[in-house]
Amino acid sequence: MKIAQAWQLGIGNKYKMPVPRHRPTSRRPLWIIVLICLVCISLIGAYIYPPQHYPACYFFSSSVCTPFKDWFPAMPTRPLTDDEMASRAVNKDILSLPSVQSKNPKIAFMFLTPGSLPFEKLWEKFFLGHEGRFSIYVHASRENPEHASPLFIGREIRSEKVVWGKISMVDAEKRLLANALQDTENQHFVLLSDSCVPLHNFDYVYNYLMGTNISFIDCFQDPGPHGNGRFSEYMLPEVEERDFRKGAQWFSVKRQHALLIVADSLYYTKFKLYCRPNMDGRNCYADEHYLPTLFNMVDPSGIANWSVTHVDWSEGKWHPKAYRARDVTYELLKNITSIDESYHVTSDEKKVKTWTPCLWNGEKRPCYLFARKFYPEALDNLMHLFSNYTAI
Ligand SMILES: *[C@@H]1O[C@H](CO)[C@@H](O)[C@H](O)[C@H]1NC(C)=O
Ligand SMILES: *[C@@H]1O[C@H](CO)[C@@H](O)[C@H](O)[C@H]1NC(C)=O
Ligand SMILES: *[C@@H]1O[C@H](CO)[C@@H](O)[C@H](O)[C@H]1NC(C)=O
Ligand SMILES: *[C@@H]1O[C@H](CO)[C@@H](O)[C@H](O)[C@H]1NC(C)=O
Repeated sequence: MKIAQAWQLGIGNKYKMPVPRHRPTSRRPLWIIVLICLVCISLIGAYIYPPQHYPACYFFSSSVCTPFKDWFPAMPTRPLTDDEMASRAVNKDILSLPSVQSKNPKIAFMFLTPGSLPFEKLWEKFFLGHEGRFSIYVHASRENPEHASPLFIGREIRSEKVVWGKISMVDAEKRLLANALQDTENQHFVLLSDSCVPLHNFDYVYNYLMGTNISFIDCFQDPGPHGNGRFSEYMLPEVEERDFRKGAQWFSVKRQHALLIVADSLYYTKFKLYCRPNMDGRNCYADEHYLPTLFNMVDPSGIANWSVTHVDWSEGKWHPKAYRARDVTYELLKNITSIDESYHVTSDEKKVKTWTPCLWNGEKRPCYLFARKFYPEALDNLMHLFSNYTAI
């Protein structure tokens, strides 16, 4: 019965003839027979050549329509704004760019720091012998750094004040990306802090980042107060609560994604205005939500959902564990480099913990290339151990 109804609404406005109820007689007019034949032929035709549009299915949610669901795209629930249309066009083109666009691909190491970098000597050990395969950028937001290594001299970009948790943090990240993008040989862009150290040798890091087409952006859904609790309805309609994500700030992105971040103004503006400390009595930190949410919306399969920079939140405090000189042992570094599952915990009362294997091109591998936070006093121990713990 429903087939007939749906069929009538969908195709045959012309054929809304009542079916005769009286018993057929030999004197039935010829046109009824012709009509019935026409109906049969069109039914068979509709079965053999499925229609591309089947509007009746929008009105009948019956199981009749289920087999037809693949025939038409889901109807957009609301018309897109001009800005969304423009943003989709730009993002689509950026994402379809070839993955490596340089003969001599380099990795851009972008340091976001208040001032001097305490581990320049360690980084120098990491970089030496690999000239031409990396470039360094330093955004020093508070004071001019003093350099311990010639590799860092003259690598500062113009900086502005950065306030923890405010949009100025995202602005500094965008400024570093925009500077590093000027060099067309830079193909991968790593954001690092003054307390970050390398966990592997340069070749390992280079092959890990260049050998895959994904960006390492931490991203997970947290229904608790430190996740979706920070979502503001002012972000609607472009950002819905179900799109809202959380993740650590320390990203590593491929060139297409770096371009996309620099080009985005629609979502950036939403977070600038409505994800900030003391927003309607709640605290939202754009550096923890903007990029995870953006990439969850525009290219979810293009990101790994974990960050290659390790940090230890297991003490459950406001700040992660920071390692002193005495903590830095061969065993600690081996422990961190052997982790091959990323860990997330929700901030609601359920405290749901998830461990996800770190899959690199489908193969389970150690998750981390860098680690934080280390006190400057840890430098000597790290220098002493570096060749050992990075041997493989
Ligand atoms: C990356 O994507 C390109 C196509 O865009 C493909 O040719 C290449 O094999 C991919 N590389 C890896 C490591 O998956
Ligand atoms: C990251 O998560 C999204 C959805 O949460 C998923 O679509 C995507 O495949 C994940 N990325 C990888 C590399 O598994
Ligand atoms: C290293 O990991 C082992 C096993 O998980 C643990 O018992 C040990 O305390 C860890 N050592 C350090 C220095 O973190
Ligand atoms: C470095 O590794 C070698 C060989 O595994 C070992 O003999 C040496 O004691 C290690 N050095 C340090 C400082 O751990």
